[in-house]
Amino acid sequence: MKQRVLTGDRITGKLHLGHYVGSLKNRVELQHQYETFILLADVQALTTHFDNPQLIRDNLRNVAMDYLAVGIDPEKATLFVQSMIPEIAELTVYFSMFVTVNSLRHNPTIKTEANERGYKDMYYGFLGYPVSQSADIAFCKATLIPVGEDQIPHIEQTRKIVRRFNDLYAPVLVEPRALVGERLDGLDGNSKMSKSLGNAIYLDSSKAELTDKIKKAKTDPSRIHKQDPGHPEICPMYGYHAAFRPDGKEEIRESCSKGRIGCADCKKLIISAMNELLEPIRERRQQAAAKPGFIDEMLMAGTEKARAVAKETMLEVREAMGIQYFK
Ligand code: TRP
Repeated sequence: MKQRVLTGDRITGKLHLGHYVGSLKNRVELQHQYETFILLADVQALTTHFDNPQLIRDNLRNVAMDYLAVGIDPEKATLFVQSMIPEIAELTVYFSMFVTVNSLRHNPTIKTEANERGYKDMYYGFLGYPVSQSADIAFCKATLIPVGEDQIPHIEQTRKIVRRFNDLYAPVLVEPRALVGERLDGLDGNSKMSKSLGNAIYLDSSKAELTDKIKKAKTDPSRIHKQDPGHPEICPMYGYHAAFRPDGKEEIRESCSKGRIGCADCKKLIISAMNELLEPIRERRQQAAAKPGFIDEMLMAGTEKARAVAKETMLEVREAMGIQYFK
């Protein structure tokens, strides 16, 4: 049997280049060898946006279009909506019986996100979302999870939960491993590219938007004149060379360090490399946007397929736990 890949995104906004480098690029490649499931995480989006469900609603189709735009092929990958698989919610409840509150409180990604959001007290659903994420992964017995590095603690927690379940009841669930993509800095150069930090370049940016954002982006602050030696290791632009024109990276490192290329010329190279990547993505996005009915049908069909898998796994889960009372 083909091994399964499962991954997904919170649908709180459109996807950006950080998503591309961290995970989307890997997914597009993996879909050819693995049975791929991609979840539109609307329930997880609610953990931080329960007061604005309209935002989640608006972004469902945006994110689905981003997937098609980067080259996810609905013939190969199953795209589905998290809230429409009630078995995930059920599995989350069973898992939550043996996951401690402290293990969640100590999850480094939970800590960072709670800080960023200024949570003093944490909502129960927010604190527990790694448990729900474990259920996302476990219901389809995925073995490989392409994600960004911030997700590593969640995959670790999933592995622990799966092991504990299998020990307690019967070995029906499968331990996954993370396939971690590259990390991309945001335009501010202070942290990773992220929608909530406002430092992102979106996959649907026009040429003009892209050019404007890169032109305004921070570079090495110690470079005032073109001839000043630069410090590529602290300049976010250097990371962009590495991610989007890896073959030119060494040359830039040298000419920047020696003050032989100015920031404006360096940025031109990045703009053109990003444009080259985004051009076909823009084109496919437009094609997808022209067929809204197709997007809905794709999501409904994908959800139906994922649900059939979930039902099968839950029979095994309940059987293992001894709570499948009637055949
Ligand atoms: N937590 C992921 C994010 O922040 C989204 C996600 C939800 C996910 N369920 C998942 C990722 C399962 C991988 C596997 O974008």
